[in-house]
Amino acid sequence: MKLKTTLTTLCAALLAISSANAAKIGVSMPTQSLQRWNQDGHNLERQLQDAGHKVELLYAGDNDIPTQLNQVENMIASNCDVLVIAPIDGSSLTEVLTAAKDKGIPVVSYDRLIMNSDAISYYATFDNYKVGQIQGNYLVDALKLNEEGTDPKNIELFTGSIDDNNVNFFFGGAMDVLKPYLDSGKLICKSGQTKKEQVATLNWSTEEAQKRMENLIASIGYGPEGTKLDAVLSSNDSVANGITNALVSVGYNAENFPILTGQDCDKPSVKNMRRGIQTMSIFKDTRILADQVVRMVNAIVEKKDVPVNDTITYNNGTGVIPSYLCTPIVVTKDNLKEVLIESGYYTEKEVK
Ligand code: BGC
Repeated sequence: MKLKTTLTTLCAALLAISSANAAKIGVSMPTQSLQRWNQDGHNLERQLQDAGHKVELLYAGDNDIPTQLNQVENMIASNCDVLVIAPIDGSSLTEVLTAAKDKGIPVVSYDRLIMNSDAISYYATFDNYKVGQIQGNYLVDALKLNEEGTDPKNIELFTGSIDDNNVNFFFGGAMDVLKPYLDSGKLICKSGQTKKEQVATLNWSTEEAQKRMENLIASIGYGPEGTKLDAVLSSNDSVANGITNALVSVGYNAENFPILTGQDCDKPSVKNMRRGIQTMSIFKDTRILADQVVRMVNAIVEKKDVPVNDTITYNNGTGVIPSYLCTPIVVTKDNLKEVLIESGYYTEKEVK
């Protein structure tokens, strides 16, 4: 009897503690049409629920800005305790988020920084500048640009959506590495398109990237029998997939494929790496990012110190947003089994 009473009291106490810390978390994701955001949403939802929170997870159609504005507005109206938002367009949420600020609802910007809003409390992402730098350095090594006697190499450049603040870091990081080689003539960009605005791909669309690569092939005459194309910088995998489609359709194959970069380790790209028609990608383990966001959310809810590791890099126009940057990892066909399959991220069958 005594034991039963003690257990009941203990359970009641535990329940009280967990419900005191349980909160309603609104999670807004940009699109379901790209694999990574499905994984992000799924991991976040599961890990937040495991931590005892209630979760309202919404996707904004396929990168539909008005839908995202609406969804975030409703989350604020329904009194979510914390918002976690991966914006489609970094600058379109300013107005809507003033209501979050007025109600004292903290906002965590997820993966992409929300610009020009003082409602943003924290930012959790991968080190985006490092992603660009890794891609740039990979190209320098693979093209042997630092080795004596290497002939000039031809490269074309592709980045992502101009409204995504991450592009400044991905493209900026890569260009900080590549520009000296372009300036010295060791790298040649025959199209002359080296500015962010010229090489951007709206909504990170595979089709748009394919079209632009097809145009470059037609106008410059790139091809296995034509003008040599040694490398293509692509900021991510959805863009790389479009480039690969265009290159394969004019006869490039594993034997003569240009060095092609990517990011995300999406399944089609992992398969392409295995087949030799994409050279590298960057793995950003969404489980790690979700885990970090859960730590942030728990600390916010419990009014404890929120874990951050960067308080200088990400200024969203209203000031520096305290950030937590996770570490990206380079993946090629040589280590993909170990990094992606043995870690349990994919099964062998999924990326065969
Ligand atoms: C993310 C990338 C992703 C891209 C397209 C970026 O903001 O950081 O991982 O490939 O959006 O969705």
